[in-house]
Amino acid sequence: MAGTPRAHLLTTGTAEDYRRVLAEGIDRVGTRIARTDRPFTGVTPAALAPAVAAVDLDRPLADATAALDELEEVYLRDAVYFHHPRYLAHLNCPVVIPALLGEAVLTAVNSSLDTWDQSAGGTLIERRLIDWTARRIGLGPAADGVFTSGGTQSNLQALLLAREEACARNPAPRRELLPRLRVLTSAAGHFSVQKAATLLGLDADAVRTVPTDADRRMCPDALHAELTRCQRDGLTVMAVVATAGTTDFGSIDPLDAIADRCAAAGARLHVDAAYGCGLLVSPTRRHLLAGIERADSVTVDYHKSFFQPVSSSALLVRDGQVLRHATYHADYLNPAPRASGEQLPNQVDKSLQTTRRFDALKLWLTLRMMGPDAVGELFDEVIDRADGAWRLLAGDPRFEVVTRPTLSTVVFRYLPPAPAGHLADDANRHARRALAASGAAVVAGTRVDGRQYLKFTLLNPETTLDDVAHVVDLIAGHGDRYVCERTAAVAPCPVG
Ligand SMILES: Cc1ncc(COP(=O)(O)O)c(C=O)c1O
Repeated sequence: MAGTPRAHLLTTGTAEDYRRVLAEGIDRVGTRIARTDRPFTGVTPAALAPAVAAVDLDRPLADATAALDELEEVYLRDAVYFHHPRYLAHLNCPVVIPALLGEAVLTAVNSSLDTWDQSAGGTLIERRLIDWTARRIGLGPAADGVFTSGGTQSNLQALLLAREEACARNPAPRRELLPRLRVLTSAAGHFSVQKAATLLGLDADAVRTVPTDADRRMCPDALHAELTRCQRDGLTVMAVVATAGTTDFGSIDPLDAIADRCAAAGARLHVDAAYGCGLLVSPTRRHLLAGIERADSVTVDYHKSFFQPVSSSALLVRDGQVLRHATYHADYLNPAPRASGEQLPNQVDKSLQTTRRFDALKLWLTLRMMGPDAVGELFDEVIDRADGAWRLLAGDPRFEVVTRPTLSTVVFRYLPPAPAGHLADDANRHARRALAASGAAVVAGTRVDGRQYLKFTLLNPETTLDDVAHVVDLIAGHGDRYVCERTAAVAPCPVG
């Protein structure tokens, strides 16, 4: 059968090839990971694109070795490596090995988590993990949920359920109600809330932004004022979205106070804990999520703070009944239950997806091999490191920091020496680009109150304060050089 199309299928007869080919791939990645001495090569799209374009997709290569050799050129050599201690940019974590074992198993067995007859035990495992997470949150006995592809999908589904609940409870005709629905979230909330509102057919101004305090946490009094305004104007607040771990600042909205305001106004509360969910297993910081147990729904991204590979996320709801708003029946898959018929468990009735990966297996093996405390300790470590980074930057006159971190991000900016202050935005943009181009480190950029800032997102416990200090010096060097080349503010110009 060697050389035939069927030789490539994983079947009873090819299990040995499967072992060999995957072992070769794992060996290649293992070598690459062990040897990577910087997070990025700094390659540009223009430099890489010709190699990708030159691949003739209609002419396959001889074997796995040749395909992996080619992959080195078009991907592995220049990929961005999140496991490297000087990758400090986005909410991408290094991944734990038990989860990689889960990934290998789940793709080979290839269960699909829509129905029992495509997953069997997979459905039960996902349900156990949903129950486990809901209990960690404290959502109560009627809680349920489903794994999703990420925080964006979890937030979309949460708002879909909120829209349907609002329509179900309001006697007004749907077409009259829809333009009057509002979602309230803080100025530091995630943009997926706005995207979800658009996808759900809400008005362009349906998402109202609630002001934040100096620590970028939603102001409960401002929320109260907005809720009152909406009521006065005959608008229906279908959901308040609080954030437990904002993307830029890691700030956690005051969940208890927000839950009070929502309860008083009869508004549904969704907590976007895509980032902050790691606190659910933190041995020392669980209290930072106090009040999350009062949410109607919660987004958790295990692929952010549980050290899981992309994708691994879930939406949890206090009342499992609301998931019915995502239920549609098809005769071939999940026919409507008959009164007397046998009811097999299925997850497709709860999900926006049909065919769906068994991502839950990665978390399952992580909990079975490491246990939750070990995951929480890793997250605690990076939060400690972020505080160290904040101290370092706050004590360095070359920089300005926005807030003291609650989680593991630090937003800061390089301050050009006087009189070059007007170059600050450009100098920070330049420093970020120059750093990435050198490959020495990768940091993120963001805007705060209209000005350009830089951001560290620390999710790698292997990142030391020395790594951070080194990157801080590199940024200052790039900033100084930029300013020097445009003014005489730094003299002589530092060499780079
Ligand atoms: C607070 C928050 N919510 C939602 C999301 C979206 O999650 P995902 O990228 O998994 O779709 C992010 C992503 O960074 C986030 O930080």
